[in-house]
Amino acid sequence: MAPSDMARLDGQAALVTGASSGIGRASALALAAAGASVAVNYRGKSEEADAVVAQIEADGGRAVAVQADVSKEDEVAAMFAEAETVLGPLEIVISNAGIQKDASIGDMTLDDWNAVVSVNLTGGFLVGREAIRRFRAKGRRPEISRAAGKLVFDSSVHQVIPWAFHVNYAAAKGGLHMLMQSLAQEVSQEGIRVNSVAPGAIATAINAGERDEHKADMLKLIPYGRIGEPDDIGRIVAWLVSDAADYIVGQTIFADGGMTLYPGFRGNG
Ligand code: BGC
Repeated sequence: MAPSDMARLDGQAALVTGASSGIGRASALALAAAGASVAVNYRGKSEEADAVVAQIEADGGRAVAVQADVSKEDEVAAMFAEAETVLGPLEIVISNAGIQKDASIGDMTLDDWNAVVSVNLTGGFLVGREAIRRFRAKGRRPEISRAAGKLVFDSSVHQVIPWAFHVNYAAAKGGLHMLMQSLAQEVSQEGIRVNSVAPGAIATAINAGERDEHKADMLKLIPYGRIGEPDDIGRIVAWLVSDAADYIVGQTIFADGGMTLYPGFRGNG
């Protein structure tokens, strides 16, 4: 196989959570462009998910919108069942859905904490667990993919960079890091690859307010000199689940324009 063929995903079914917008949407489109059929999960905005499905279909691909709140056990099980009924056994699962509810520590409510941990960390557990159960039931199909299944978590630079005024978010992403590595250690001998992508500041709705008000300050944190685009991450996700990346197991790919280089230390410290 030529190296470029190894990046193809033809004949593989994928599920992307939180795929109606932002990085999830870009990941769904990139997977479809590489040949995968895609279940486009959304929680509330069915029109946005339908638009992603329509775009994939217009480009000659196959997709279906599936509703679920990833923090709800029964909804996650129903989402996987629906995706596999329509698309067949899943080879690829991208656990991407995530939220922010920012507050200083004195003002952070238990609801703010629980909401973020439920979606960003418990959601990763529920989606990851169901993905692995389904990969096991499917087994390895070497004519389609070298691995028996590929699971990618959409983490964040804040799995390592502390983040004042966002302790719920940073704690959830830090937990997601150990969830990913511990899961990878548990299931890689079955041929299941578990990895993460850790984006920096990407132009999506989650940080739209910050980008409007503090873009210059954000850019000071990014040595490469630009805010990322959702496609920057979508392309990496599609490659990471392909056979081209078959030997990457239990790793986090940071895609952050150098944010984790701590650029404030250049000439300082
Ligand atoms: C957050 C964004 C933030 C970026 C860099 C992401 O995980 O969701 O709001 O801009 O990290 O700090």
